Amino acid sequence: MEVKVSSPDYPERDRELVMDDFLKRIECYKVTYEPLDPDEHDMNLSFIKVINVGRRFLVNKVQDSIQSKIVYYLMNIHVHTHSIYLCRHGESLHNLEGRLGGDSGLSERGKKFAVELKAFVKEHNLSDLKVWTSQLKCTIQTAEELGVPYEQWKILNEIDAGVCEEMTYAMIEEKYPEELAMRDQDKYHYRYPSGESYQDLVQRLEPVIMELDRQGNILVICHQAVMRCLLAYFLDKGADDLPYMKCPLHTVLKLTPVAYGCKVEMFDLKVEAVNTHRDKPLIKVRTPPPLSRRNSFDPLSTEYQIKRPRLYSMGNFSPLPVLPPPAFSSTRISKGIESLQRENSLDCFSTPDTGEKST
Ligand code: G3H
Repeated sequence: MEVKVSSPDYPERDRELVMDDFLKRIECYKVTYEPLDPDEHDMNLSFIKVINVGRRFLVNKVQDSIQSKIVYYLMNIHVHTHSIYLCRHGESLHNLEGRLGGDSGLSERGKKFAVELKAFVKEHNLSDLKVWTSQLKCTIQTAEELGVPYEQWKILNEIDAGVCEEMTYAMIEEKYPEELAMRDQDKYHYRYPSGESYQDLVQRLEPVIMELDRQGNILVICHQAVMRCLLAYFLDKGADDLPYMKCPLHTVLKLTPVAYGCKVEMFDLKVEAVNTHRDKPLIKVRTPPPLSRRNSFDPLSTEYQIKRPRLYSMGNFSPLPVLPPPAFSSTRISKGIESLQRENSLDCFSTPDTGEKST
């Protein structure tokens, strides 16, 4: 009900009207749509059929790593109400010096944040809260103060800056100016020598992300780059924005997945801390360095693709699609399209240009 009422198709938000209209739509779909036929007609198509919100799956002809990732994703997501609390560890001694990575303990202000975080958990009545940390000292010390059980995840450790670990940006600029310039050119794919890229980190975090979707209320005490990756998943941010998302110290973000998005609430626990954010430099490098061969890259998908024009999109009543040439089920399709025109409530429809079945 929540998903339907929040749909962009129903700006009026009248629950009864929405339900009534949606039931009519189902009847309408029944006239138009035909089930995929994995045993004969559609046996060569790649598709995933999700039955009753994940009770059963039918997976047909998975051909590449992206398609199998989609299967993995769909089999792991769960529809339930919960909130995810994200924060970084309290300010660390390395943060004070502007050093990246390492494994230093909390500063005095960092310890104060841990105390405030405990008060926050109590104030928000988060008694059934699960707490996860990385295996680095600063997140563990922050969690210890809460006085509740917590789990340490190695994969939540901060991005590995390789040869630049424990250096400040100024030190990197002096010792490895080319590296800093290459990172500024493509921060998401740039991989530190003997270290990781943000893309590597996203891949490393995949099991955490899947598990977050399964859990009830959960608090993840992590690190700047890790928090950016988790946040980007929930807020649907891409590779350009992700490495520059602002995740200040001593701030808790409450994420509540809702239909068609994620509600975000921000709580500043009012404990001063250094700013560790480095903006994308505005001044372009005069001669940009060649892209590093060390960069990580996006996996390729199979070339096999069926291009179907998406004539209708959400909330957009496009003109009628061109009817497919008469074929085995064209009468049924055209009948369906006419009735859809009358109903004018279709949100998404693809017409094949080859006379294939509309699905
Ligand atoms: O210690 C690592 C930093 O959190 C990473 O920050 O990716 O903006 O350099 P950055």
